Amino acid sequence: NSASHVSVLGHDYPRDSHTNITSAIIHKLNKRLHLQPSHPLGILRTLIESHFPKFSAFSDMSPVVTPARNFDDLSFPADHPGRALTDSYYINKEYMLRTHTSAHEVETFKKGHREWLLTADVYRRDEIDASHYPAFHQVEGARIFHDTPNSMKEIEEDSTRLSAYLASSNIVIEDIPHISATNPVQPSHDSVKAELIAKNLKLSLNSLMLHLFGGHANVNEGEPLRVRWIEAYFPFTSPSFEVEVMFHGKWLEILGCGVVLQSTLDRANVPDSIGWAFGLGLERIAMILFGIPDIRLFWSKDPRFLEQFAPGTINTFKPFSKHPPCYKDISFWLPSATFHENDFCDLVRDAAGDSVEDVKLIDSFTHPKTNRTSHCYRVNYRSMDRSLTNEEANAYHDRVISELKQNFGVEIR
Ligand code: PHE
Repeated sequence: NSASHVSVLGHDYPRDSHTNITSAIIHKLNKRLHLQPSHPLGILRTLIESHFPKFSAFSDMSPVVTPARNFDDLSFPADHPGRALTDSYYINKEYMLRTHTSAHEVETFKKGHREWLLTADVYRRDEIDASHYPAFHQVEGARIFHDTPNSMKEIEEDSTRLSAYLASSNIVIEDIPHISATNPVQPSHDSVKAELIAKNLKLSLNSLMLHLFGGHANVNEGEPLRVRWIEAYFPFTSPSFEVEVMFHGKWLEILGCGVVLQSTLDRANVPDSIGWAFGLGLERIAMILFGIPDIRLFWSKDPRFLEQFAPGTINTFKPFSKHPPCYKDISFWLPSATFHENDFCDLVRDAAGDSVEDVKLIDSFTHPKTNRTSHCYRVNYRSMDRSLTNEEANAYHDRVISELKQNFGVEIR
């Protein structure tokens, strides 16, 4: 069966000449990192959702979509390179892995949602380096307004509120015209309304950038946040933009966005509406905010990665060794009631320096008759920059034992 079919998320699909999905990719599909509250991607999703409290938030859509959803619904031309087998993962001719969260625009609008966020894992065949990975995560956001005179008042009030907020903040924005000859208004749109939408889009995203990057030590500490808008092209928005943020002296691309193509809303059966959409990459932003140096770390199951993060908290990642651990145990009767675990840790640091990664108390026992307490510690010898040999670890451990005897006069068990 595995020769003729490919199993994806519990469903068997017949293979055909399009099938190019690999088992390494299939194994990523059920990870759903963005749903883990203590994972940097989950923390960031929550942070973005909290910035748009009125928006419906979705994060549970299957990555398996039809090319119609991923491309045709969004007006991609038949010969668009994104459709190629070299660029996208196909299960077969009928099904593929979404390459972007925009694949869910039509169905989400169709369900009647007018202000929404959608977070998901997306897949693209790509090069391998520290910032590219064939699986990553995006947040799609969209807002549509009733296309009536009154609703235009609603959008103007919203824009006035956002402008006031931005004017009082430490942000420098390099803007471009909302509409230009090379970034045109859609033929069916009133250019005044399209400009109101584009302006509201820019204000909404500038304030999101402030929310995400404004107060974080990893971005240009003490200086204003710098955001720049540039003209872009997407098959499903017009006008279209990209947003870049200044990070350590370089402009970093953060997201793509634009005024939603009216044909998208028509396909979703949403009448008399006009609005905007954006799509941002979570890994790129998380790497900046958490100081995570390598995109592969997001997929790490290593507790030394996962245990550094907590829900609702943006903290700077501390790199850890890639070299193997070497565990050595030591048990001894505590020398006195005032002996503190930190005394032992200082002694270990003294004896083994930075070749020790962590010390854990793994057992504590009080003798019923003598009332003496014994502790067993597990010391993990691991260097940041090289593999330690067992002999080296033994030598460190022997020093720990002899200093423990010397300094505290303890009895080793
Ligand atoms: N889907 C686009 C991408 O992945 C981003 C985008 C979303 C652009 C919504 C415009 C509107 O690059």
